[in-house]
Amino acid sequence: MSDVDLRHLLSQMTFEEKIGQLMQYNTHLFTDSTAEITGPLTDLGLDEAMLPFVGSVLNFEDAAQMRAIQQAHLQQDRLKIPMLFMMDVIHGYRTVFPIPLALSGSFDPELVRDCSAMAAKEAAASGVHVTFTPMVDLSRDARWGRVMEGGGEDPLLTAVMGVAQVQGFQGDDLRDTDRIAACVKHFAAYGAPEAGRDYYAVELSERLLRERYFPAYRACIEAGAPMVMASFNTLNGIPAVANEWLMNDILRGEWGFDGVVISDYDAVEELCVHGVAADKKDAAKQAMRCGCDIEMCSAAYASHLKELTQEGVLTTEQIDAAVLRVLMLKDRLGLFEDPYRGASTQKEQAVCLSPAHRALARKAAQESAVLLKNNGVLPLSEDVQTVAVIGPFADSRDLLGAWSLRGDTSEGVTVSEGLAARLPHARILTAPACSNLCGNTDQSGFEAALTAAENADAVVLCLGEPSDYSGEGSSRATLDLPGAQLTLAREVIRVNPRTAVVLFGGRPLALTELDAVAPAILHMWFPGHEGGNAVASLLLGDENPSGKLAMSFPKTVGQCPLSYDRLMSGRPIQASQEDTFLKFRSNYIDSGNLPLYPFGYGLSYSRFEYESLTLDRRTLTADGTLTVTVTVFNNSDRHGKEVVQLYMRDLVASVARPVQQLIAFDKIALAPFERKSVSFTVREEMLRFVDARNHLVSEAGEFEVSTGYADHLLLTERFSLQ
Ligand code: BGC
Repeated sequence: MSDVDLRHLLSQMTFEEKIGQLMQYNTHLFTDSTAEITGPLTDLGLDEAMLPFVGSVLNFEDAAQMRAIQQAHLQQDRLKIPMLFMMDVIHGYRTVFPIPLALSGSFDPELVRDCSAMAAKEAAASGVHVTFTPMVDLSRDARWGRVMEGGGEDPLLTAVMGVAQVQGFQGDDLRDTDRIAACVKHFAAYGAPEAGRDYYAVELSERLLRERYFPAYRACIEAGAPMVMASFNTLNGIPAVANEWLMNDILRGEWGFDGVVISDYDAVEELCVHGVAADKKDAAKQAMRCGCDIEMCSAAYASHLKELTQEGVLTTEQIDAAVLRVLMLKDRLGLFEDPYRGASTQKEQAVCLSPAHRALARKAAQESAVLLKNNGVLPLSEDVQTVAVIGPFADSRDLLGAWSLRGDTSEGVTVSEGLAARLPHARILTAPACSNLCGNTDQSGFEAALTAAENADAVVLCLGEPSDYSGEGSSRATLDLPGAQLTLAREVIRVNPRTAVVLFGGRPLALTELDAVAPAILHMWFPGHEGGNAVASLLLGDENPSGKLAMSFPKTVGQCPLSYDRLMSGRPIQASQEDTFLKFRSNYIDSGNLPLYPFGYGLSYSRFEYESLTLDRRTLTADGTLTVTVTVFNNSDRHGKEVVQLYMRDLVASVARPVQQLIAFDKIALAPFERKSVSFTVREEMLRFVDARNHLVSEAGEFEVSTGYADHLLLTERFSLQ
């Protein structure tokens, strides 16, 4: 439809019809409650007469249900305005890919784009129109359970992966019925709650918000995401959905975002709980004034927008602008031409969990696994006769991770199934041994596990956190391996040192004690449906681990929040002083400052040697470029992939600068004994920071540029910015 047609449609709408476009409810409202008025409708304080006007739906089962709801709606809706169907398609739909934090560690945006495109295809077949993804909430605190949904601790990597997701989900044209729209969330800074506790307060300076936290949201909007979700948290005292500075000045004003803003679940009514709105009416007023177009799952808009407009507190223009934004999105998705967007049961059957999708899920799991330690037990020999697969994840199907709403665990491959398929000649002894739940210290399964370990040529010890320990509402105050898993690890490794630990989980854990005893550790995160096959190919060396950490792993929970781009402080300690307590220095009495495994870290079966880092000039001008060339040699007889990372440091500036900051990366494949050079172009804009007046600037002076990974910068050169 043209802009004129949409405005004409708007002009025909009654006030109730307009408000309907600004409401979103769960499917059960449309499927269960129409018959009687004693169900969820009244719980919400909703009048049944509003139901036919509701403009969008959250979550549904499949194409059949979506079609039925849409059809019933269109029959009742005078103006035949289709509903929008939205869902959290976070790391796959029916085919489940690794969790976003894992995918981020692949350092491969093309792979992330492909996974998002496949997820879009499956979701679109069921009738999803908008996914609440990407989540680009920068987070440096592993206690926060939602770190699994994001891109990790680095602003650049988070932005690159967020943009890759937007591109994968949306393609070039939202009318393409294999694509769906992306919603960037949770605006803003939801990933920095105090003490890592979900939904809690975020206090950050405007300077830091602009420099570190905002860029990823903005990059996703500039990549074309037509929707933004306002977050649950207070930001400097004011909940996001009622935060005028955040929503009006920054998002709509400075960034010119003219798409749809949706609240998070219930967040408009929660303004009352926060204690910043007197009642639901006040909450509706504040959220509408802050440009929140759609209220998700609470009913402040439905109950009060009309009254607020009649009283002149809100204007008809405000309501019309919000409705028009929603209609425009429906139009961009082609819903006025085809309200089902081609969704059908047949299409679902044809695309979901197809061999091509499973193959991509396997590749993604392989590329995002991180080899944390290897004293030589990996890769396993092809000739192993007996393999003991021990631990709570040995035969567990809990490999999909939180936010795999439509993923069926029974379609997944367990570690022992993957190994059995890869090693048909070998005997696989499986022993779960203990639970992975906090507080469960039952060791009655140890005996069988230790017997299996004793009788095996190799042990694959599968440990970690269950999937519901991360994701929404799953913050932790400790970061240890839950239950009796550490004790199990010590005993198993004592009886059979040919043990490789395979870890699962949604957040960095504090693995100091495990690291001290384990001969090898391969981190799989939550790898998705093809997890078991991916583990087998990595352990056997068919695939060479190439993932790097997108988030630092602390030595102990007390170091959190923790990130590699720390400031120097006036009283730093040297890396060599990590384990010494020095008085009047910026350190701890009882722990070092550095993480156990830093951002950007990850081993390979190949041996990569960084041979040189050269600059084509020593001076960079504001409109010029500087080329940094890094040469890497694969000093091994194995094919491998390496993520070449480029860091910079601004040595003197008006604001203290981080000791290292990622400014570019490239993942390269190297054949045995191959040498490759990677060139990066450095521009002035990559050296900018936000100054004390909150302006994005660069300052002339000396800079360092380095390669390696956080805290292990292997080669460094200097240049100056003029
Ligand atoms: C979460 C969002 C999610 C929404 C809809 C909320 O509780 O915070 O991330 O998109 O629910 O499921």
